[in-house]
Amino acid sequence: MSKLVITGGKSLEGRVRISGRKNSALAIIPATLLAEGESALENLPYIRDVDVYSAILQSLGAKVRRNGGGSLRVDSADLSGVSAVPFDLVKQLRASYYLLGVLLARNGRAEVAMPGGDDLGPRPIDQHLKGFRALGARVSIERGVIKVEADRLMGGSVYFDVVSVGATVNVMLAATLAEGTTIIENAAKEPHIVDLANYLNACGAKVRGAGTDVIRIRGVKRLSPATHAIIPDDIEAATFMVAAAATRGDVVLENVIPKHLEPITAKLLEAGVEVSENGDSIRVTAYDRPLAVNLKTMPYPGFQTDAMPPFTVMLATAEGTSVVTEGIWENRFRHAGEIKKMGAGIRVEGRTAVIEGVDRLSGAPVEAQDIRAGAALIVAGLVAEGETEVHGIEHVDRGYERTEEKLRGLGARIERVPESTPVS
Ligand code: UD1
Repeated sequence: MSKLVITGGKSLEGRVRISGRKNSALAIIPATLLAEGESALENLPYIRDVDVYSAILQSLGAKVRRNGGGSLRVDSADLSGVSAVPFDLVKQLRASYYLLGVLLARNGRAEVAMPGGDDLGPRPIDQHLKGFRALGARVSIERGVIKVEADRLMGGSVYFDVVSVGATVNVMLAATLAEGTTIIENAAKEPHIVDLANYLNACGAKVRGAGTDVIRIRGVKRLSPATHAIIPDDIEAATFMVAAAATRGDVVLENVIPKHLEPITAKLLEAGVEVSENGDSIRVTAYDRPLAVNLKTMPYPGFQTDAMPPFTVMLATAEGTSVVTEGIWENRFRHAGEIKKMGAGIRVEGRTAVIEGVDRLSGAPVEAQDIRAGAALIVAGLVAEGETEVHGIEHVDRGYERTEEKLRGLGARIERVPESTPVS
């Protein structure tokens, strides 16, 4: 275990390259199992979740090769009869439930334990199961293990009661090899849904409408492997944009798709921060204290929930009072108590936080309890005067690639040091 030690108060300046999108990778890596043969993925982030997913694929019998430069090759030629996924790996990764859709499609049967992941409040999977049933699958949950099976998977229609990224992905995965056409209504529209559709279509699938709220999938008999580059990570980019603004910095982010960052850009502009786009890069410059803004997180193209925790840190030192409402998760303010220790004026009531901006934060030891809360605490450490220790950094390592190296490239004073062994 290690911690990050940050000496804050320095403006971030320079250029940083944004990595491939975690949540795309976590949908497309399992999707490679649908195509018999060797698929190649490029622009993958070097993060723990990708390592865990690679290990899961290997445990199922796929041959996985990690090359340099964010590339991964998965050969899934021999997966016949595989249905159960090892529990110790599943519990580390929520997105392991995508193997339900994949193995159901490929082998007619899947067994996956109820998945782990960040504790953001209740995380039901009823919509995933509704979708599998609509394709004619039998679904049961026994002793914490979800079982889905179908003699013949048939296309069907499903209307989701809530907009769910996970359920949309899972039903897309299952439907690609079903007989007939599947229609998903009230589908999630996140860019990684489009990225997944692009990969599947490159393999020969017939997915139309991804990125809108109605997706049509005409099932095909088989998929062939393809090469696909993962899109850039909007949440990593948002974290750097906010860090630049909060430290009154001047940072150019390379390898981004500015369109995917519009919800963040709009709120930064409203806060008086300068944001300019140039092809696949975006520049964020802040000369003064940002202004308070109100925001509510929503499914894309609304303000991304995963970008909200770091954004609240910027608002903690903004001029004025901001109101932030969380529209997706019940428990998304796990960083609030920690930034209070650093002097932030943040009061959380249910899904709303009222943030009274203060002149400055001061360094303190703090503990990350989930990935985005951890990112928020790192931004707080960069802003604060004095030294901040961020513990629980393993959460951040799940989804951010070479965090301290990238931040040091922008002039931050940040070190990873081993946690001292407790005295027994
Ligand atoms: C994904 C992202 C996560 C992000 C979230 C919302 C991945 C690996 N993770 O999570 O980083 O915070 O989208 O953008 O891509 N719900 C139900 N029933 C279901 C499924 C979901 O009620 O069957 C509810 C959830 O409780 C939540 C909302 O729908 O309130 C959205 O959840 P969902 O979009 O499914 O999130 P994930 O796919 O788990």
